[in-house]
Amino acid sequence: DFIKHLYSHEELSNKIKNLLGIKKVIISNGSIYESNGRLELAKVSSNYFLKNIKNNMIIGITGGSTIGQTIENIQTNKSFSNIVVVPVRGSLMGSVKNQANILAVKLAEKLNSKYANFYLPDDFDLDNLKDISKLPEVQKTLDLINHLDLLVFGIGDALKMANRRLLSEDEKELLIENNAVAEAFGNYFDINGNIVLKSKSIGISLEQFLNVKDVIAIAGDDEKEKAIIAISEVRKDITLIITEECAKKIIELK
Ligand code: G3H
Repeated sequence: DFIKHLYSHEELSNKIKNLLGIKKVIISNGSIYESNGRLELAKVSSNYFLKNIKNNMIIGITGGSTIGQTIENIQTNKSFSNIVVVPVRGSLMGSVKNQANILAVKLAEKLNSKYANFYLPDDFDLDNLKDISKLPEVQKTLDLINHLDLLVFGIGDALKMANRRLLSEDEKELLIENNAVAEAFGNYFDINGNIVLKSKSIGISLEQFLNVKDVIAIAGDDEKEKAIIAISEVRKDITLIITEECAKKIIELK
């Protein structure tokens, strides 16, 4: 189609990189709506991830289906026994399959590495958090989050994630009133990257996110172009991995 003929992959990455003003953009073939699209995105993401890790790193991951598929596609014979994988969020309500907790264990198995964990539900209320955060196991994980060398995170559509995370009607209303478009690590943002709703639960804070040495964001084209633009405003030195179709949507919007 038009955009495909107009730009090579490299040109398209550069175009998106400049439009969003971010560090690096990697593009996978096609769209996640095509039969192999999700797999293509996961392959590109897992390859890039493997190229960028080395022993002794502390690696944070979020949950979500995109990160889940990336981890599923990781294949290596190397052993990274001194890497520590850390879930940066508690777990989600509902399906456990793509919780950060579970994915951290899966990733650690693939890398033959260590992992930390959060034995807490994601909807845990901040009022009860003071005592829970003092638990030694929880302290250890929170401390690792302060020292992340790399974070791999998923970008979500605000309202879809609000439903998935079972936010209250009042909270959803607040998101709509304030034009929230993006969700990342439990926080909700408007298109300019302003925080609309802060996570009340345990896990990485926005300040900690900004301090991670290196971050990789992975997003499909599931109406996520606005969310991607928003997160690009939150932090500029990120590597973004998206599909060709998603790149096209960003160009149309910008
Ligand atoms: O935390 C989840 C992400 O923000 C998006 O999840 O990859 O399933 O769309 P997803």
